[in-house]
Amino acid sequence: MKENSTEPDPPHIGARLTTTVDALAAGGEGIARPDGFTLFIPHTAPGDVVDVEVTRTAKHYGRARLLAVRTPGPDRVPVACPLAEGCAGCQLQHLRYAAQLDAKRTFVRDGLERIGHVHGVDVLPTLGMDDPWHYRNKGEFAAQIIDGRLRLGYHGEDDAFLPLPDCPIQHPLSIEILHAVEEIGTELRLPVAQLITRVSPHTGEALAILVCWNWDDNLRAAAEALQARVPALVGVLWSRVHGKSVVRRTLAELLTGRGHLMQRLAAWEYGVSAESFFQVNTTQAARLVELALSYAGELHGRSVADGYCGVGTFLIPLAQQAGRALGIEEHPIALRDADRNLGQYGLHEVKLYEGRVEILFPRLVRKGRQVDVVVLDPPRKGAGRPVLEHLVALETERVVLISCDPATLGRDAGDLTALGYKLQYVQPVDMFPQTWHVEAIALATR
Ligand SMILES: C[S@@+](CC[C@H](N)C(=O)[O-])C[C@H]1O[C@@H](n2cnc3c(N)ncnc32)[C@H](O)[C@@H]1O
Repeated sequence: MKENSTEPDPPHIGARLTTTVDALAAGGEGIARPDGFTLFIPHTAPGDVVDVEVTRTAKHYGRARLLAVRTPGPDRVPVACPLAEGCAGCQLQHLRYAAQLDAKRTFVRDGLERIGHVHGVDVLPTLGMDDPWHYRNKGEFAAQIIDGRLRLGYHGEDDAFLPLPDCPIQHPLSIEILHAVEEIGTELRLPVAQLITRVSPHTGEALAILVCWNWDDNLRAAAEALQARVPALVGVLWSRVHGKSVVRRTLAELLTGRGHLMQRLAAWEYGVSAESFFQVNTTQAARLVELALSYAGELHGRSVADGYCGVGTFLIPLAQQAGRALGIEEHPIALRDADRNLGQYGLHEVKLYEGRVEILFPRLVRKGRQVDVVVLDPPRKGAGRPVLEHLVALETERVVLISCDPATLGRDAGDLTALGYKLQYVQPVDMFPQTWHVEAIALATR
């Protein structure tokens, strides 16, 4: 303990100690408090008694590495994946599934209370999956040459490269494609930097996008060889490495086949291009669409807007019931998909706007538009106060807010409350089993 201070001294880096984990942090690490000092420890569960090594310290908290579990906590289960300990992907795989769902409900409630200062809201039990494995319809794999062979995998903890024999949260087709790209890419010496796979669990079809350092004359031959090797591959595309955002900002160019898949969510079908956003868990996305529709309430004769409409995931079901509907989307290819998808349902009168919500909401306000129901499913950074402020001028009565980040959900919910909306309830949906990530859908009314 420091002199004249109630704060405990941090342990020194490299210190080894035995401690008991008492909670889970958003992010999935266990939290222990040896001698009152807060330590975050990945791959631990509440109730675990663990041996750890301190790896990092700051004034108020530190991080430690798990060395051994002396006594497992009540919710610890054996991991299904041999790579789970070193992989940065599945932060909660060592937790019983029911405990994962409880933890996610807590993450959502904490986001509302601690970040948004919204208290007393009914956060419902997390909707889980019957089979919480092999759910990802999109794979993103980094590439590295190891012993002269192209290998594909993830960047694990401390950024170490983990070549993948398998991954239990990916659709098996993605792993089949991964191994085919490794083989053909090695034979043809392809300059692959990343592989992106997209799978339609409904049709059993897939796309592969080879993100390369540069164009290579072998790419077309490679694409054909890949299709011959994996018949479910209906299209192979390539794209050049482009900073961090690899494909979605740039056009991926078709090498062979076609560049889109049909995805089905509940009763609805969507054409989705390789570059367009689509929810990664098809089973849970279907539940999200049905929830959004029910949270939107009676739509007959009412006007509805979907602020981040993507390929029309929520917009199509909503527009089928509403009197008037509009969608806003900044990504031109997703918007083109939305346009086609609406056309497939004969929804030709729905207005689509290409651009940013931040710019287009004020334009609607200036035109004197009024929108009864607004659905917002922004990217991880949330909608933000400037967007939400326009809901008041649009005279919006119901806001259906969908979020993949409890922190930004909390902040947006706090802003909505400050603007005169009442958060009615929040439903967490387990879109990302085995990881700490959680989707949530909330209803706010004025
Ligand atoms: C989380 S996704 C949701 C898409 C859609 N609701 C769905 O479920 O498939 C967010 C979408 O918003 C788009 N987007 C991101 N920032 C935007 C902004 N400022 N204005 C409009 N669209 C934006 C992205 O391109 C992406 O399609």
